[in-house]
Amino acid sequence: MRRPIVIANWKMNGDMRFTRRLLQDICKSWNGVHEAEVAVCPPFPYLAATQMLLEQTNIYWGAQNMSDRDNGAFTGEISAEMLNELGCKYVLVGHSERREFQRESSELVAKKFKKAVESQLVPVLCVGESLEQRENEQTYDVIARQLLKVVDHCGLDMVAKGIVAYEPIWAIGTGKSATPQMAQDVHSYIREILGPEGDQIRILYGGSVKPDNAEALFSQKDIDGALVGGASLKAEDFVEICRAAE
Ligand code: 13P
Repeated sequence: MRRPIVIANWKMNGDMRFTRRLLQDICKSWNGVHEAEVAVCPPFPYLAATQMLLEQTNIYWGAQNMSDRDNGAFTGEISAEMLNELGCKYVLVGHSERREFQRESSELVAKKFKKAVESQLVPVLCVGESLEQRENEQTYDVIARQLLKVVDHCGLDMVAKGIVAYEPIWAIGTGKSATPQMAQDVHSYIREILGPEGDQIRILYGGSVKPDNAEALFSQKDIDGALVGGASLKAEDFVEICRAAE
């Protein structure tokens, strides 16, 4: 059984006041026992406040990125151990915005994935194709390449300790989500690549998930939840998406 999970990625948004308010509002509407797991990934400077506010709740938290190194002269980087100290359970690795704007290679993403698992964090590996790649019918090749880099570097046993998020780049922040069938097709392909371990690995969809399309996406057999950007900045919308996962 794969427990559904919805993860908020707040990206570089909000200030301290906004973040506290958002956390409090989400907590208020998500108390008690739930079938779905919920986690939030705030910007780094707000992780300590997040830890304080969420420690006694049923909501987990994580970081949007981390270094593949342990420590040392790496100005501006943040280590897995630092995230552990801040109580993080999850860490996103290989988000398309980092692959694109920070030029992160699949090799680096694979190293981060490994470091995260070795440090008892749960990495959420993001994969996804661009619009051009989809139009050129390269979607499956791109997904396989991104995924197999991590499988080759870490082995399937280790990959099974993480989560995979399929986020088509053309659907991120555009309001144009993949259809449930499109997403399902890629999710089932990802599961196939992951072999026997694939059955237990949670695969999330991300890209313009909103309260009005969440249920249809979650009703697909291989969609185990979502990684939510824009809609997770509004407590009401985010919690509605979390409810749809149950
Ligand atoms: P949106 O939900 O804003 O499309 O962003 C998706 C995303 O990038 C989550 O990581």
